[in-house]
Amino acid sequence: MNGDAIAVDATRSEGAVTDVRAFCIRLLGNGDLETKLAPPTCPDGSPLADGAPGPSLSIDRPVRAVGLELAAGAPPLPRPGELASPEARASCLARFAHHELMAAELFAWALLRWPELPAELRHGWLLALRDEQRHCGLYLERLYAHGSKLDDHMLSPYFWKHAPAIAASPHGPRAFLSAMGLTFEQANLDFALLYRDAFREAGDEASARVCQVIHDDEVGHVALAARWLERLSEPDQSEIERYSRAVPFPLSAARAKARRFDVAARRRAGLGDEFIEFVRSARSTQETRPRRPRDS
Ligand SMILES: [Fe+2]
Ligand SMILES: [Fe+2]
Repeated sequence: MNGDAIAVDATRSEGAVTDVRAFCIRLLGNGDLETKLAPPTCPDGSPLADGAPGPSLSIDRPVRAVGLELAAGAPPLPRPGELASPEARASCLARFAHHELMAAELFAWALLRWPELPAELRHGWLLALRDEQRHCGLYLERLYAHGSKLDDHMLSPYFWKHAPAIAASPHGPRAFLSAMGLTFEQANLDFALLYRDAFREAGDEASARVCQVIHDDEVGHVALAARWLERLSEPDQSEIERYSRAVPFPLSAARAKARRFDVAARRRAGLGDEFIEFVRSARSTQETRPRRPRDS
């Protein structure tokens, strides 16, 4: 299950990319945005092959071009009430674009790490990866409209810093599904609407519409994770049990939401009412104050 750790830049693929493995290696092993946002298709536009995904690869960190390096110490995410300021909006848009970029990278990471998973799940992850690339592009367009670009901002490794715990988990892909789909993406059901309304309130309807698109796509990503966590877990476990066992510390249900809690979107994603209530009422054991949204 666990592949040998490799330096990703030693695996740069050369030539045309025609399969999922080479595509993921190229995405993680090249640092520029253009390559990272290139769609998962063959040069002629046909689907990538995934019939022989090869041995498991474990990658510690993605390659990043100058200006896109991961760095600790990013300022806090502006609060929704601060978005009347164009600088605050740009800061938010950069943060959200980078979350999407990291999500695309982490789906590539998972596709390389677990080649033995059912083709249907791998295909679902590849489609989600493509959505994350599109989401990143949508936020970047709004960032450019504000006269800013990604390398004007500090880029926190927020998602990547959880990769070692996922990689070390005995729950393997269940840890990934719980962390990515049922924690980060579940929380984004709330954050995307919270910030949609904040952008709208600030008069930035175009950014508000982007948040809505992302919220709507996120329902499908949460549904994919919930469905596959069930399929890959023991049959007698409840939804709460299988999430709680597999989610890697320090992630937990307390991180799977924002203070605006959207029950309807969770139901549309197929989450059961007991699990929804479990998340809604979860309190962090580490802190008593609510976290600022998507802080690093
Ligand atoms: Fe996304
Ligand atoms: Fe997503």
